[in-house]
Amino acid sequence: MSTIATPDGHNTGTAARVEELLSSMSLAEKAGQLTQYFYFGNRSAEPEPWADEQSRQVEDALGHGRVGSMLFVSDPAEVNRLQRLTIEGNRLGIPALFGFDVVHGLRTIFPVPIAMAASWDLEAVERAQGVAAREARAVGIHWTFAPMVDIARDPRWGRIVEGAGEDPYLGAALAAAHVRGFQGGVLGAPERLVAGPKHFAGYGAALGGRDYDEADLSDSEFWNVYLPPFRSALEAGAANIMTAYMDLNGIPPTGNRWLLVEVLREKLGFEGFVVSDANAVRNLVTHGFAADLTDAAARAVDAGVDVEMAISDPAYAHLEEAVAGGAVSLEAVDACVRRILAVKLRLGLFDQPYVDEEHARSTLADPAHREVARVTAQRSAVLLRNEGGLLPLDPDGLRSVAVLGPLADSKRDTLGPWAFDFDLAETVTVLEGVRARLGESSEVHHAPGVRPISRLFPSIFDQFPANAPTQPDNFDDEAELTRAVDLASGSDVAVVVLGEWQNLIGEQASRSTLGLPGRQLELLQAVVATGTPVVLLVMNGRPLDLRWAAEHVPAILDIWYPGTQGGHAVADLIFGDASPGGKLPFSWPRSVGQIPVVYSHTMSHDPEKQAERYWDEPSTPLFPFGFGLSYTSFGYSDLVLDRNELPIGESLTVSVKVTNTGDRPGDEVVQLYLHQRYGTASRPVRELKGFRRVHLGAGASRTVDFTLGRAELGYWNAAAHDHVLDLTTFDIWVGGDSTAGMSASFSTVGERAPQKMTNG
Ligand code: BGC
Repeated sequence: MSTIATPDGHNTGTAARVEELLSSMSLAEKAGQLTQYFYFGNRSAEPEPWADEQSRQVEDALGHGRVGSMLFVSDPAEVNRLQRLTIEGNRLGIPALFGFDVVHGLRTIFPVPIAMAASWDLEAVERAQGVAAREARAVGIHWTFAPMVDIARDPRWGRIVEGAGEDPYLGAALAAAHVRGFQGGVLGAPERLVAGPKHFAGYGAALGGRDYDEADLSDSEFWNVYLPPFRSALEAGAANIMTAYMDLNGIPPTGNRWLLVEVLREKLGFEGFVVSDANAVRNLVTHGFAADLTDAAARAVDAGVDVEMAISDPAYAHLEEAVAGGAVSLEAVDACVRRILAVKLRLGLFDQPYVDEEHARSTLADPAHREVARVTAQRSAVLLRNEGGLLPLDPDGLRSVAVLGPLADSKRDTLGPWAFDFDLAETVTVLEGVRARLGESSEVHHAPGVRPISRLFPSIFDQFPANAPTQPDNFDDEAELTRAVDLASGSDVAVVVLGEWQNLIGEQASRSTLGLPGRQLELLQAVVATGTPVVLLVMNGRPLDLRWAAEHVPAILDIWYPGTQGGHAVADLIFGDASPGGKLPFSWPRSVGQIPVVYSHTMSHDPEKQAERYWDEPSTPLFPFGFGLSYTSFGYSDLVLDRNELPIGESLTVSVKVTNTGDRPGDEVVQLYLHQRYGTASRPVRELKGFRRVHLGAGASRTVDFTLGRAELGYWNAAAHDHVLDLTTFDIWVGGDSTAGMSASFSTVGERAPQKMTNG
């Protein structure tokens, strides 16, 4: 048995054991293996009778062999208790898999995924998710429902915070980095998790940015924009995929055989297991797609949904009926069971189903994890404005600092959404970080200035402790605003932390506007009017309407939801102990009416008027994709292509010299963009096709190389219904954002017909 558990990549022992188990299982036992239950235990803020009842139902199901996996349990003692119930409850002693949304940390919370994307630092992301995996595995979690690799081009959609933004190339690079961090080199590696990229596919294109609403994607968008991050996550070895909730071109992904079999398994070559999103199999009925739960179960299994994630009354409980009635074959059920058993065996669960609670405690307390969180947060921040070099602040020159705003001292908001097992006591807010950095040398005053706002409609996440901000008692709005402004007047500098409370973003947290919620803009305007220099720190997971700030506030630093060590990381940045080097992973719209605004649009008609598509406002973004300033400056020179004629199918090397032209060390993200001048389709004006984050000392230079080949030059063509490479001329640009000016060109040479690529 131990040979099966060895993560050696050889499956022969596993396959034999799978067949042995399968041959002795009843259909009901098979359905049990394919069923995953939420288990909320004592997670609710308030004891909820329905949660108690649900837990009781799950324990009953465990005791009768009707459960193959669980989610939402992260207390190691609970994991052990429930695992024991599972093993004792099924005839064959098959252990349960425990899954959880380890999205940006378990106990140590890292910056939210959109922030990690803004770091453009693949090693940093891999390192952070490696720590997340280590903590999660120590408490008994085997599998994470992450990364979310959905491209998001509409920031009204709250889940933009969970992904890597608008761009397929950046998204693909990030997807692989997350998977490497979570899962390690081989499935079953110690201290690692099964990675489950989600939500397959197109969820980010929800109409109007309204979470769960349908998505209608053209073929071209599907293959060229929404699929590349999934392909990349799978190439990095991800062993699981989660389906998506909404209808995709009229068909719910969870029952979509074309999507899950033809695309996922046949074209992308996926051999792992598929889980439905929560209740998504049952919901095939509410979509108006399946006739009833039996039909839903049959269609999901037929499409290859190996595991049904359910809160209660799973559709897969009807599988016996579905097989008996001929709606789905036993072979289809067996195929799902094989995949789930194989994962359990490859993870070594049969040998070691339980966790060591003491080891879990010491792993969660590891101070090295907090250090990784601090560095990741430093690397994620994006400097959007720095007029007159206000930042970094000189700590020695400051007598008094006002740290203002409702998010300046909110521990829960500093962590962001999709965090459950955090420790608020060890979470460092901006106020605490500034105080710790300045010590006794300066006075630091704080006022929130404005109260939290409440959602018009609550979300499911409000059931978790501390999720929604509590309204302060006796909060006199006018007096508090005045107090904040007075503190600004009497200080050398005002650091104002504004943005969205974390419960205003994430799942079920879409919005129809992008303004700073509540009276935050009014606070900012009043503080700026005092004449005290203002540093605006934006705490967010989506672009907000910063038109006024971008003109009137000298320094703007996007700190996102920076995580457990956020306050220390922010203090490192604003006082110059670290330098901001992040870049935007999306085009920052001026106003909500511009959405979607994407840098990689096509030329279309009248391209010279691209910036003037509206008569009332420029149609360009407020800040372009890839943008971010530094405390130093960078220059580019010596752009060289190793050839100007590229035989189709070969690759060329682009090199460019980047120099730190300022007087401080700093990081630059060197970016390469490509445009195809003509061909068998009109291609975007620019598309990211390479990037590298480099650190350069003052005055230092470095040559950065990029390779352009089939993967970068090919694209999916709606007329050919395949990936093609055109005979054409390409322009490239290299620089520090998507408006980079330094350019060169080359042509592809070879046969005339469009060059179809294999493996669509
Ligand atoms: C979300 C998934 C998540 C699942 C389990 C669903 O509502 O869409 O992303 O993994 O819940 O928490």
